[in-house]
Amino acid sequence: MFGFFIKKYLESKGFVLLTKDQVEDNKKKSSYNYYIESQRYLEATEFRYVLWLDRIYQKIKNVPGHVVELGVAYGRNSILFGHQIKMNGDELVRKYYGFDTFSGYTQESLKLEPNLSDATWKDKSKGWVEDKIKRVGLDELCFLTEGDVVKTVPDFLEKKPNFRAALLYVDCNSYIPSIEGMRAMKNFMSPGGVICIDEKRQGGETKALIEFCKENNLRFMKDDSPFAIPSYTQFEY
Ligand SMILES: C[S@@+](CC[C@H](N)C(=O)[O-])C[C@H]1O[C@@H](n2cnc3c(N)ncnc32)[C@H](O)[C@@H]1O
Repeated sequence: MFGFFIKKYLESKGFVLLTKDQVEDNKKKSSYNYYIESQRYLEATEFRYVLWLDRIYQKIKNVPGHVVELGVAYGRNSILFGHQIKMNGDELVRKYYGFDTFSGYTQESLKLEPNLSDATWKDKSKGWVEDKIKRVGLDELCFLTEGDVVKTVPDFLEKKPNFRAALLYVDCNSYIPSIEGMRAMKNFMSPGGVICIDEKRQGGETKALIEFCKENNLRFMKDDSPFAIPSYTQFEY
């Protein structure tokens, strides 16, 4: 009873009373270890990925045109490419355009490639990714289009006949949107423009890029660097 009145009195004077556990918890939180852990340092694989994208950006440094990505998912690359455009001082002349169904693979792709899962890439909407992009201040630079690439890319380009891309970054994990997206973009690539695929384990994107290179007499390439993209091609200047 006496303790209760003391507690009330101290609280009335602005003191905050903590239990023993809360005191211990606060000690832990303010310790150096907690500080290090709470920083969530970049994992090596993520760091390598950033370097990988930087190597790609260097290839288009002097190539006029936009960055187009097929397969946006949760917007990781939208943000990375957006930052790259800004940090390289290209924001007046280069934008990022991302295309995704925002509901996973199409039925056509699922039928053709049984290794793809119907359950993946369905949980985040275009609005969710746009919000994320806005929170990092890139909403004036990064634009998203929703729907099957096979239809949305030609529709988009029909409305913008003067559109030119310096980079087509293909990351939709499946053959049909990869090949159809490349074919649709072909006449909208800048001279010197680069098409690359984000596929460590070879699958539909690799097949599509090889086929596209054959159709257009382009070289299917990889660089000699630990941060080299798996494969890419480059149009003549
Ligand atoms: C590997 S994720 C993309 C990852 C993303 N580039 C990143 O930055 O992490 C593959 C994405 O391709 C999309 N996708 C697959 N087939 C598609 C199609 N036909 N049209 C549009 N998007 C498609 C999926 O919805 C999924 O979000």
